[in-house]
Amino acid sequence: MSIRVLIVEDESLIRWSLRQKFEQLGFDVIEAERGSEGSDLLAHKQFDLVMLDHKLPDVTGLDILRTFRQRDHDTPVIMMTAYSRIEDAVEAIKLGAFDYVPKPFQMDLLLRTVDKALETTRLRREVRELRRHMEHQYGFDRVIGDHSSMKQMMDVVKGVCMSSATTVFLRGDTGTGKDLLARVIHYNSERAPRPFMNITCTAISEALLESELFGHERGAFTDARTQKKGLFELADGGTVFLDEVGDMPGALQAKLLRFLEERTFRRVGGTEEIHVNVRIIAATNRDIEAAIQEGAFRSDLLFRLNVVTIDIPALHQRGEDPAALARIFVHQFATEFRKDITSVSDAAIGKILNYGWPGNVRELRNVCERAVLLCKSNVIEEEDIVLGNMGVPQPADVGNMPIPAEGLDFDQLEKGLLEQAMAQSGGNQTKAAKLLNMSRDTFRYRLEKFDLIPKRRGD
Ligand SMILES: Nc1ncnc2c1ncn2[C@@H]1O[C@H](COP(=O)(O)OP(=O)(O)OP(=O)(O)O)[C@@H](O)[C@H]1O
Ligand SMILES: [Mg+2]
Repeated sequence: MSIRVLIVEDESLIRWSLRQKFEQLGFDVIEAERGSEGSDLLAHKQFDLVMLDHKLPDVTGLDILRTFRQRDHDTPVIMMTAYSRIEDAVEAIKLGAFDYVPKPFQMDLLLRTVDKALETTRLRREVRELRRHMEHQYGFDRVIGDHSSMKQMMDVVKGVCMSSATTVFLRGDTGTGKDLLARVIHYNSERAPRPFMNITCTAISEALLESELFGHERGAFTDARTQKKGLFELADGGTVFLDEVGDMPGALQAKLLRFLEERTFRRVGGTEEIHVNVRIIAATNRDIEAAIQEGAFRSDLLFRLNVVTIDIPALHQRGEDPAALARIFVHQFATEFRKDITSVSDAAIGKILNYGWPGNVRELRNVCERAVLLCKSNVIEEEDIVLGNMGVPQPADVGNMPIPAEGLDFDQLEKGLLEQAMAQSGGNQTKAAKLLNMSRDTFRYRLEKFDLIPKRRGD
């Protein structure tokens, strides 16, 4: 679709020269000679850009702009003004003009301003669209649960969203929805327009984690060729989600504690104290009290994190919720895979309600996905619900794994297994290491060997 420009200008020569240029660029040009005509067009038509003369025979460009901005905050308006009236141009900017160009204008300068205006507006609209999408995607109704424990929990979540609480601690077993809740909290709070950044504290080495969180100055360490801002700085005004905080290395726990207490920090290798306003949402599926007993977690940090604590109940404690969740997941996957599935049989629901769900909602969701794929009719039957660990070979089988006649690349095999373990554990290195029966250090060493250390995720 071509760009639609309105030119409001009484001097016909200027209108003519602008039209020439814009039409060369493929724009759709509409002209107005008088101010009233321009106002009329603005009131009834949509434009992508408005070129507005300051001095018109009937009204001033500023008047037009003022009225227009009461209805439309988006469409870029570029004022055209004589050199002698620069103070009016300043006024125009205050009223929401994108910029002004002095007359007589240099065409290339004007076109650069036009370019910038269109690009800025496009980006602004895109960001707004994206935000609307996220806010919709992470509305409160995304969190499904009718059980009283879930209702109570959601009351607390809603309270947190409205509050100015800057620290929130989410506790719950794997797959209970910590990640989901962190996003719901962000996108339903005043912070929604600002960034949501997340980082998994176990996924990277201690030194890297520190520089990811706090940033670093140029030359702080060998690879630090330029200054880099950390998540706390990038998320200013928004939220930082510290996942698996229970596995954070000890030295960093002390630094996080200092940050939580003072809300200031220094970049690695830096001396300047930087102050930011971020909400920290920390999460863990670890028994943090036991970790304190073992000396793996600082009690003063727990005390700091515990300002608002949300304990997410395990799925098996949520009464009939697994059934409701299953019906919704089945419906979602059926739509996604274009399968005509209308219901879940009573026997299947019985099986779901009798199971313990060690992997909580994530496991239930996976089971439903598989059920929809397996289902041959339009009802999910008991046998479509496959529970327990699916198809994990026992250690004895692994040793007997046949080597293909043409041989195999051992490095590729190892790399593939590491990647699978990371994917299966949702990026949690401790769990991934467990899957492969090795220590976290060994696992991390191998990840580094294959350059598989995950990059920062931010959104
Ligand atoms: N109450 C809920 N309603 C709907 N979907 C949910 C709910 N709880 C969790 N889910 C979904 O279940 C999956 C797992 O949730 P999530 O990743 O938030 O768990 P988690 O607590 O962060 O797990 P882990 O400790 O393993 O990181 C996601 O797909 C999430 O959208
Ligand atoms: Mg998670």
